[in-house]
Amino acid sequence: MEKERPTWSSRVAFILAAVGSAVGLGNIWRFPYIMGQNGGAVFLVVYLGLILTICFIPLFTELTIGKITKKECIGTYEQISPKLKFLGFLNPFTGVLISSFYFIVGGWIINYIYLGIKNAQISNYESYFGTFVQNPVTPCIFTILFLFICIYYAGRGIKKGIEFANNVLMPVFAVILIILTLFSLSLPNAHLGLEYMFKPDFSKLNVHMFLAALGQALFTLSIGMGALLTYGSYIGEDKNITKTTYTIIFSDTFFALTAGIMIFPAIFSFGLEPSSGAGLVFITIPQIFAQIPHGNIVSVLFFFLLFAAAVTSGISIIEVPIASMIERCKITRAKACTILFFIIGIISIPATLSFGILGNYTIFNKNIFDFLDFITSSMLMPINALCLCLLGGWFFKIKGKDFIQNKFLANIFDIGLKYVVPIILAGLLYIGLN
Ligand code: PFF
Repeated sequence: MEKERPTWSSRVAFILAAVGSAVGLGNIWRFPYIMGQNGGAVFLVVYLGLILTICFIPLFTELTIGKITKKECIGTYEQISPKLKFLGFLNPFTGVLISSFYFIVGGWIINYIYLGIKNAQISNYESYFGTFVQNPVTPCIFTILFLFICIYYAGRGIKKGIEFANNVLMPVFAVILIILTLFSLSLPNAHLGLEYMFKPDFSKLNVHMFLAALGQALFTLSIGMGALLTYGSYIGEDKNITKTTYTIIFSDTFFALTAGIMIFPAIFSFGLEPSSGAGLVFITIPQIFAQIPHGNIVSVLFFFLLFAAAVTSGISIIEVPIASMIERCKITRAKACTILFFIIGIISIPATLSFGILGNYTIFNKNIFDFLDFITSSMLMPINALCLCLLGGWFFKIKGKDFIQNKFLANIFDIGLKYVVPIILAGLLYIGLN
């Protein structure tokens, strides 16, 4: 058991860790493909609308509750009433489920870095990727390796592990992203990709697009899983949560848009399909690298970019169950990490095999991997976010006037927290279930 509750070493370290949690595969892998599947620019309009209007409230609330209680998720709910403890459990549970598919993608990334370093010549990435994910052994090994890396940093604790990983990987991530974006914009016909991203066709608008955009917004901002609550609980006394919330929202949106500007011009320049789904980054993009001079170097850079983003987010995902295990079961961080390593390792194996030998096994018409993605981002995260808003508005009585000077905006915050955001979340959940 940790002797004292750890705290961040500085305000910058906390912001970097919170941004590191938000900016991840959700920005570079998930955002472009979900946008590609949902009609391009029109999805972007809906997504930005949600980010700029309703997302501030749950994000701010999650960080603030953590800062107030200085407890992990289960203890936070228990503080209100022991009967609500089960809602607290839902957070580390969601974290374990997210890890078991998130880390599989982390494993694929390590494989692609390895391919780039070995300068492997692959003529057809579609069949390569299909064969790779069907293999019952290799993807499992890479998944476990990725899990091990995240557990290793989380195991070293807040300052030596989590802060260190973020301080090193986030700047590397930003530099590589900018280099690759400039490269993509210099390709012939890059403007077609920009038009796809920024010229909306409103005839494609539909309700399910709102659900997809909300799921993506919650996922990318790390709202509704307790990661921000847990990170918030490590804040010392005087950190300004309002500024941190804006920093997370703006940097996450900036990185998602930049990732789109990196990916879509390249796709259009090579005449490829933007709506190819989860394989966009693993099939379509490598096809581009295969056609350019020194493509293997660009490929290593690109997948290292993804790797850096995935590790900093992955650490924040597992910190939720780790903090709960340390504080509830009174065990050491090392023990909690070891137990979690086995739990996530075991759950991720069937998800890894869902592309191969367990391919015929479906839940609600989805394979195990897609089911885990769906149940977490479209169900559990909105449910957790809904509960956190109710907790913040009705039990912790977070009030806009305490941090917003403008009276009108402060009132809007209060109404949003107590009524509007919970109703929107509940409504979209209802639509999702039907
Ligand atoms: N926000 C991360 C991403 O965009 O990849 C994923 C994530 C991290 C989701 C932490 C949830 C979470 F609590």
